[in-house]
Order: sequence, then C-alpha cells, then structure tokens
Amino acid sequence: MFKRLQQKWGVSTRQFWILFIIFGLTGTTTAMLTRYITSWLGMDETSFWLWKLLLRVGMLLFGYQVILLTYGFLLGQWAFFWKYEKKLLVRLGIWRLESGVVAPKPQTPNPKLQIPNPKVPIAIFASGAGSNAQKIIEHLKGHVSMQVALIVCNKPDAGVLSIAKTHGIPTLLIEKERFFRGDAYLAELQNYQIRFIVLAGFLWKVPDALIKAYPDKIINIHPALLPKYGGKGMYGMRVHEAVIAAGENESGITIHYVNEHFDEGAPIFQARCPVEPGDTPEQLAQKIHALEHRYFPETVEKTVEKLNR
Ligand code: GAR
Repeated sequence: MFKRLQQKWGVSTRQFWILFIIFGLTGTTTAMLTRYITSWLGMDETSFWLWKLLLRVGMLLFGYQVILLTYGFLLGQWAFFWKYEKKLLVRLGIWRLESGVVAPKPQTPNPKLQIPNPKVPIAIFASGAGSNAQKIIEHLKGHVSMQVALIVCNKPDAGVLSIAKTHGIPTLLIEKERFFRGDAYLAELQNYQIRFIVLAGFLWKVPDALIKAYPDKIINIHPALLPKYGGKGMYGMRVHEAVIAAGENESGITIHYVNEHFDEGAPIFQARCPVEPGDTPEQLAQKIHALEHRYFPETVEKTVEKLNR
C-alpha cells in the first residue's frame, strides 16, 4: 500500500517518509490547537453544539491546510504541499493554476466562424505524464492531413498539460460528473471539429455517449498483450506488477479500438518484449514505454489515414 502511494506521489522513499511525518504532525497539531482554542473560548460540554462543530470544521478546513503548509515549509517540502493545496483549490474551483503553469483557458472556437479543417483534428485524452501524447504530437507536427487539435485531461496537475502548453495545443480539463452523467463534453469536441480520439494513458472508462458519437474513431493503448491483463483497474504499474507476479516470460503493448467494454475493442496492433527473470515492474514499464513510443505514433497516423480513404 505504501509503495503504491509512493508511486502515486512520485517521490523517493526518503521524501515519502518525511511527507508521512508531516501529515502526522499536522493531524496532531490541529487536534491540540482545536482543544486549546476550545478551552480559550471557554467552551465545555455545556456549550451550544453548533459553535463547537463550526470550530472543528473550520480548523479542519482551514487550520489543517495552513499547518500542513507550515510544516511542509519547515521540513523542506513546500513544493510538494503547495502543489497539493493548489490541487485542492482547483478541485474546489477556486484556482486555475497547475504545476506553476497557467492552465490554458478552454478556448471555444465560435462555430459560426468555423471553416472545414483540411487536416483531421485529433483529440488526445490523457491522465498522466503524457510521454505517449508527446511522441504523437511530435510525430504529427507539420503533417499534411492530420493534427493534434486538443488535449483532454482529467487531472489538473497532469504532466500532459504542460506538454500541451509547450506545443501550443489547447487543453480541456474535464470533470467526472459531466463526463459520465452529462453530455461527455460532446459540444466542446464538436467545436474543435474533433474527428478522431486517441486515449494515451487515459484512466477513465469512455462513456457510451462518446463511443456512439465516435464509432470506430476512438483508439486506446494498453501496456500488455490483451486480452490478458486488461479490464477495470488494470492500468500503468498495476499491469506490470500482475505480469511479473504471474511469472510471464513476455509482455507487450496492444493498440485497439474502444468499445463499451474496458479493453475489449478490436485489436489494431501488438508488439512484444521479453520479461527477464528478476525484472522489476519499473524495468518492465521502461521496456513497454519504449515499445509504445516506437509504435503508437505511427499506428495513430495509419489509422487516421484510413478515415480519408
Ligand atoms: C502507458 O504505459 C499506457 O499504456 C498506460 O498508461 C501509460 C501512460 O504513460 N495506459 C493504461 O494503462 C490504460 N489502461 P504516459 O502518460 O507516459 O503516456
């Protein structure tokens, strides 16, 4: 469990334990301070319950965050906790920054001014670092018949947003509620005239509304040889851990069309790599990334070219 959390935070083991201590200190300090303020205000068991509740909630919502940042600063972890706080503020809709970078405002082109795009506009959906998105963007730069027109992301601090900014590609930050129970952002995709969607490390299931709107025009990359090691919950490092735990001597990548079932759409391309005895999930992840970077961009290109035939 600790290892998974460490991977999620993307920190070294030493830093992980420092962060852990900071969270512990913050919890204890908040509790002590709440008790101190309660007695300073002369509150006891006989006081009106609502005032006591408001004080506790206030301390939890604001005091805790301030104390967290203070300990973070004192123990040299300001950057981590500031990013953590910003993420919280972005979720609450109060902040529009991510990783020190101004998130490009969703630019919605005026449909009345749109002229048909001679290049097929592609949207890349990604949730993480975005190394695959980057390779696809670089591969298609200057292409005569297609272009990456939009990056769609569900995490305000995902590395892929910085990559989009570097390449001047508009981004769309999506929210779970609207994606799954709303219109799946179809209007925005249509405003950008998106004709093809590439999932490059996108960890949410694609809602049926989107699959219906883009039949056979959504493809995904999976870091294993499907149908093995696919399905709900199988993504990123979890896949490599499962492959190694099962004692497989090979793994690979699968690029496939997306249908309404997780990782079950028709396969387009597979490539393999050996799993050596003693390989760690991290080493296997590197081999898989190398395969993805080599084959995914050209597979996207070939698949999109078929649209125009
Ligand atoms: C890639 O390895 C991709 O295959 C995987 O996420 C990684 C994203 O890396 N996708 C899944 O696990 C989907 N089930 P990236 O952000 O560096 O491109």
